[in-house]
Amino acid sequence: MPDKIRAVITASEHYVPDYVLTNKELETLVDTNDEWIQSRTGIKERRILKDDDKATSFLAAEAAKKILESRGIEGHEIDCIILATVTPDYLFPATACLVQREIGATNAFGYDISAACSGFLFALSTGAMMIESGRYKKVLVLGADKMSSIVDYTDRATCIIFGDGAGGVLLEPDTENTGNGIIDYIQHCDGKESELLCQPGGGSKNPTSEKTIEAGMHYLKQEGRVVFKKATESMAGVSVEIMQRNNLTNDDVDWFVPHQANERIITATAGRMGLTMDKVMLNIAKYGNTTAATIPICLSEWKNKLKPGDDIILASFGGGFTWGSIYLKWGFSHE
Ligand code: UT7
Repeated sequence: MPDKIRAVITASEHYVPDYVLTNKELETLVDTNDEWIQSRTGIKERRILKDDDKATSFLAAEAAKKILESRGIEGHEIDCIILATVTPDYLFPATACLVQREIGATNAFGYDISAACSGFLFALSTGAMMIESGRYKKVLVLGADKMSSIVDYTDRATCIIFGDGAGGVLLEPDTENTGNGIIDYIQHCDGKESELLCQPGGGSKNPTSEKTIEAGMHYLKQEGRVVFKKATESMAGVSVEIMQRNNLTNDDVDWFVPHQANERIITATAGRMGLTMDKVMLNIAKYGNTTAATIPICLSEWKNKLKPGDDIILASFGGGFTWGSIYLKWGFSHE
């Protein structure tokens, strides 16, 4: 018997809204062009949740329902819902509670994690620790963001980047002792430059008022160039570090799952890890940056190609700043 319970991924699904916002359409909103957007970011289009009455909980619940269905379980079997987001339906209650209601997870508790683009990564390690503790058997880990709700569609520096979407996984104990599951994680935050990527209004520092709205403080702000440099250094650094401390060579790594913020950051990171791009999950062209959702959307989209035991590294960088990496062995075959 192994002395430690390992948390293994047993289902992986995603949901994106139907509406496709193309670079061409953005050209009609701001002074930009398809060539600039594709060459600077790799993005061709993104999905937008158009219904005004639907929010992040809707996206997350759709992904969660697919997880229940693919695993063949019901909502009441879930012990805990951890939801990573920076676009909660409300400041409180937690969006996880709204998902709990929607999927009938009557025996679950849940809460949100706010770590911007690293949210899913931090939520996954938290969920893994819950399973490892032996106390919980089924933890739903979701990453969901309706970025269109905080994007200023008159600001060309940010509106071309973001999209809406959700993804998630189910974590369970590795009862068959396969050795698969979440093996290692490295996580960081550094608040020295928090204001370089943030939503300044709406919180307790700048509560919503006529003044904050006039100043556009309810919108996401980003100093793109500085964040780009930090993101590249940090994501590459932490990905190489997790390989080294687990004695993984580039041949050992089957897949790399980077946060999808900019294709140039991803190729630079893969280069530092010594990986060829055929091992890198890359779908930024279709969805842009969906913040907490990028990594679980990738896992879900690639699951037909993944085999139990595949060595996978996840890595992220985001507002906070927050960054980290996870080393895991994939847990299931998807038919
Ligand atoms: O997800 C969490 C973390 N976030 C990131 O990792 C994002 C990191 N940053 C980036 O991905 C990039 O910095 C951006 C995609 C945001 C911007 O790309 P860049 O290559 O860093 O461009 P820049 O901000 O240095 O701007 C270069 C030029 C500027 O013009 P001048 O000053 O050189 O005349 C901008 O005004 O490009 C201009 N520009 C644009 N032109 C056409 C900025 N946005 C646009 C645009 N279309 N949408």
